[in-house]
Amino acid sequence: MRDIGFIGLGIMGRPMAERLLDAGYVLTVFNRTPQKAEPLRARGARWADSPKEVARRSELLITMIADSEALEEIARGPEGILQGIRPAAIHVDMSTVSPETTERLERAYREREAAFLHAPVLGNWRHAAEGKLLIFVGGDPQAYQRCEPVLRVLGHRIWYFERIVQATHMKLIANSFIAGMILTLAQAFVFGRRVGISPDCLLEVLEASALNAPMYQSKGRTMRERDFRPNFYARHMLKDVDLALEAARRANVPLPVLSVIRELFISTVARGFGEEDYSAVLKVLEEMAGVTPQEQTLQG
Ligand SMILES: NC(=O)c1ccc[n+]([C@@H]2O[C@H](COP(=O)([O-])OP(=O)(O)OC[C@H]3O[C@@H](n4cnc5c(N)ncnc54)[C@H](OP(=O)(O)O)[C@@H]3O)[C@@H](O)[C@H]2O)c1
Repeated sequence: MRDIGFIGLGIMGRPMAERLLDAGYVLTVFNRTPQKAEPLRARGARWADSPKEVARRSELLITMIADSEALEEIARGPEGILQGIRPAAIHVDMSTVSPETTERLERAYREREAAFLHAPVLGNWRHAAEGKLLIFVGGDPQAYQRCEPVLRVLGHRIWYFERIVQATHMKLIANSFIAGMILTLAQAFVFGRRVGISPDCLLEVLEASALNAPMYQSKGRTMRERDFRPNFYARHMLKDVDLALEAARRANVPLPVLSVIRELFISTVARGFGEEDYSAVLKVLEEMAGVTPQEQTLQG
């Protein structure tokens, strides 16, 4: 499997595609905004004018796009992958999307004698660039076996699930953790600041304790610096919280904590921070407490 199509060259997609080029794969790429493909074209990737054209040229297609709606359009639209897919080809979607979407696409590809796998990932663009993503793969075992060597270029741990929606759900559960952890940290920052405990002191105590997590340290540092440049958009975190709540509702599982978290991410997006990193939820909690950055400097 040398001919790979890659669609979706955003924060995550670009370093993933670059890694595949570095590993010697022949890449055909497409992105809604063509300019984002320039750096890859400069490194030898070929451009195609539509997902359909990418599918015509590839044995394996990888997508890393925003959401379920975009994925359905890319797969099933008039210029979509299914219009050009080769028999026995495999489409692996690595985005975070809904279980309904992955189940529906698995059926549609089977009808065309092709395969659809869902392989959502845990990790950020740096992990993507280093091949250190964690990957949850679900779907047809033979298709998985065929594309496993390619996935091993992108991730250093892979969990395989026979039912496609198990992988989809695993990712939603993982992101529920991330949403909860960022809010636990953000509220600790705001509370601490108000009562005169600096972020540095807080992070040091966490690091020395059983409460620590690498994420608290990495996000704690950027939040302390008030660096909200996006690694993972706040609007995408809201999308994932919505997906988890909807999936849990269908499974008759109440998620009371995540329901509150959802309100705070709605507020983050409503205040205009949707294009910032999801850690910008800190600013919502600061507003709720009436804590200003100036006050923080005085107290911190
Ligand atoms: N960032 C992370 O740390 C991270 C980690 C794990 C998983 N994820 C998931 O991975 C996926 C991609 O995330 P990202 O951070 O790379 O997001 P991103 O930078 O916003 O990239 C999204 C990609 O989807 C494309 N797209 C969006 N809407 C589209 C539409 N209607 N039709 C066609 N293409 C469309 C975008 O094209 P344009 O360039 O034209 O906008 C872009 O290529 C998301 O599902 C996200 O939840 C992200």
